[in-house]
Amino acid sequence: MDRQKYLEAVKSSLEQNIYYHSLALEACMGGIYDYLKNNNLLKPNELTKEDWQLAGLIHDIDYVGEFKEFHPNKTKEALAKFNLEVDNQLIDLIKSHSPKSTGVNPQSQAQWSIFCTDSLTGLIVAVALVYPSKKLADVKVSSVLKRFLKEPKFAAGTRREEVKMCEKPEGLNIPLEKFIEICLTSMQSIASEIGL
Ligand SMILES: [Fe+2]
Repeated sequence: MDRQKYLEAVKSSLEQNIYYHSLALEACMGGIYDYLKNNNLLKPNELTKEDWQLAGLIHDIDYVGEFKEFHPNKTKEALAKFNLEVDNQLIDLIKSHSPKSTGVNPQSQAQWSIFCTDSLTGLIVAVALVYPSKKLADVKVSSVLKRFLKEPKFAAGTRREEVKMCEKPEGLNIPLEKFIEICLTSMQSIASEIGL
């Protein structure tokens, strides 16, 4: 797998904010994988870390042009334009981030990760933009948690009910505060790449 080729495909296909969101989700998927692995919580038969990250990177690649209304059911077709492909497990992983459009409900830990994280990245970005510095480095877990729980109108597009499913015992079983911490830290590690 050559990340650079997928990265260039995503970058050249998507508007900058969705491209940055894709990089953020790639980082979060890697961070969640590491957390599960390091705490011996990763289930057998999960895909590799590279697959988790790649799914995050390319999950919105068909959110453009003639594919947009079918998103995310046209990943294969969107990748084919760049002579790229992924296997069906990865396609299912990508589909699980939007069960309403695909009918694929999250089951594996990777699927719950992409489902729960997709709309959290936007809230974290919005919290950073409130700071005078507009830097992710200044964002605290407690600030994100407060905006998430106490200010439903803040970053109103955040699907809070979906993010909260990170706590589901049969899914990730990660407390919300810890989940936010993992995603925030992951995004901070690539802040300069996403303009924050
Ligand atoms: Fe997304």
